[in-house]
Amino acid sequence: MSPKARSVFRCTECGADQPKWAGRCDACGAWNTMVEEPVGRSGGRAPGHGPAVNPPVQLSAVSASSVARWRTGLAEFDYVLGGGIVPGSLVLVGGEPGIGKSTLLLQCAARLERAGVPTLYVSGEESPEQLRLRADRLTDDAGAVHALGETRLEAILHHAATLGARVVFVDSIQTVYTEELEGAPGNVGQVRECAARLMRFAKEAGPAVCLVGHVTKGGGIAGPRTLEHIVDTVLYFEGDGGLDHRVLRAVKNRFGSVDEIGVFRMTGAGLEPVPDPAAAFVAGRATGVSGSAVTALMEGTRPILVEIQALAAKAGFGTPQRVATGLDQRRLALLLAVLERRAGLACGQLDVFVNVTGGVRLVEPSTDLAVVAALVSSVHDRPLPADALFLGEVGLGGEVRPVAAVERRLAEASRQGFRRVFVSARARASVDGVDVVGVDGIGELARRLVA
Ligand code: TYD
Ligand code: MG
Repeated sequence: MSPKARSVFRCTECGADQPKWAGRCDACGAWNTMVEEPVGRSGGRAPGHGPAVNPPVQLSAVSASSVARWRTGLAEFDYVLGGGIVPGSLVLVGGEPGIGKSTLLLQCAARLERAGVPTLYVSGEESPEQLRLRADRLTDDAGAVHALGETRLEAILHHAATLGARVVFVDSIQTVYTEELEGAPGNVGQVRECAARLMRFAKEAGPAVCLVGHVTKGGGIAGPRTLEHIVDTVLYFEGDGGLDHRVLRAVKNRFGSVDEIGVFRMTGAGLEPVPDPAAAFVAGRATGVSGSAVTALMEGTRPILVEIQALAAKAGFGTPQRVATGLDQRRLALLLAVLERRAGLACGQLDVFVNVTGGVRLVEPSTDLAVVAALVSSVHDRPLPADALFLGEVGLGGEVRPVAAVERRLAEASRQGFRRVFVSARARASVDGVDVVGVDGIGELARRLVA
C-alpha cells in the first residue's frame, strides 16, 4: 500500500488552488485553466524555505568554461543551436508526428557517443528493439547509445544519474508521467511538472536534456504552449511530409540567435545536413518557363534563395480562383490589386495560382517584388531572365521599397550565379559581378520585363 502523494489543481491564470479539477476557476472565472500540481510546490520552483542551495556569486568569479558546448558534428543541428548543445540546458524539439524528430535525435545521440559524450535515449514511444531497427537504417553507428524504454519520470532520473549520461534524450515529453500527480501522461499538469523536474535535474546535475514534443493541431506543443516558457531552447522541425527537405528552426534560444534554420534531407539512411542550404530550394529549377521568379529571403542571419511560381490562366465559369501556397492569400490579393491599378495588368478574368517551391513559407514583405515579377511573367507568358533575382517590398501605390540586409542577400545571389538583381531605386547597394537594377515602381518593372 503506497499512499499517493497529494496534489492540488492550480489555476494558471490567477494561481488559486482547488482540491478537485473543474472546468472553470472558482476564483477568477477563467475556463480550462486548472492544472494539477503537487502540494507544496508550484511548477518547477525549489521546495522549502530552508537555507539557499545556491549562494549569490560575483559574475567575475563564475567560470566561463561552463559555456563550452558539445558538438554533435551534425553541422546544421549544431548551427541552429548556436554551436552545439550547452551543458545543463533543456532543449525542446517540436514537430508533427512522422517528421523525423526521433531520427534526428538518435543520430545526435550516436554522434555524441562517438565523440565520447555519454548519452541516454529514453523512449516512451518505441521499445529498445524498435530503436535498434531504426538505428540499423542509419549511417551513423548508434550501437553505443544507451536506450531506455521508460515513461516514469522518477525511473528516468534515476537511470540518467546512475549512468552518468551527459545528454539525456526524452522521446517524448507527452509520454512521461510523475507518480506525484494523478493525471494521465500528456495532460498539461503532467507535461509541465515533468519538464520542470527535468529542468531542475539539468541545472543541478549538469547534463543537457533534450525533449521531443509533439505539436498539437493548433500548432502549440502540449496545449497552451506552457513548455516553451520553461525550456531554454525551442526548436521546431518542419517540412512537407511529401518532400525530402526538413527544416529545423530555432524559435527560442537562450544560448544563440533565434530564427536560425538548419536544412536537412531525409534519406533512406537517416537525415543528412544539406551542405549548401541557401541553394537547396532552387536546385533543379527549370529555367526558360514563364511565371518563375527567384528571391532571397532571410532566415535568421542566413539568406536563402527560393523560387516563386505563378500561373495565370483564363478562368472558367464564375468567380476567378486565387490560390496561394506558401504565402498569405490576402497578400496575393493585395499584390494583384496593386498590379491592376498601378501597372495596368488585367488579372480580373484570370485564375491565379501562386506557389512557393520546396514547402517554404513567405512571411517577409521583401518577397513581394518576386511575386509581382512571377505574375507579370505568367500573364504575358514571357520567361524571366534565368539569372535575374528580385528583392523588394511593394506598397499600395505600386512603389518598390528597399529591404533589410540587402548586402547579404546580394552577396548570396552573386555567389549562386545571379547576375541581375532588381531592387528598389532607393536601395544603395552593390556587389561585384552583379548588375543591380533599381526600379521605382512596379509599372516600371513590368515595362522592363516585357519590353
Ligand atoms: P520519425 O523520426 O519516426 O518521426 P517522428 O519521431 O517525428 O514522429 O521519422 C519518421 C519517418 O521518417 C518515417 O516516415 C520513416 C522516415 N525515415 C526515413 O525516410 N529514413 C530513415 O532512415 C528513417 C529512420 C526514417
Ligand atoms: Mg518519434
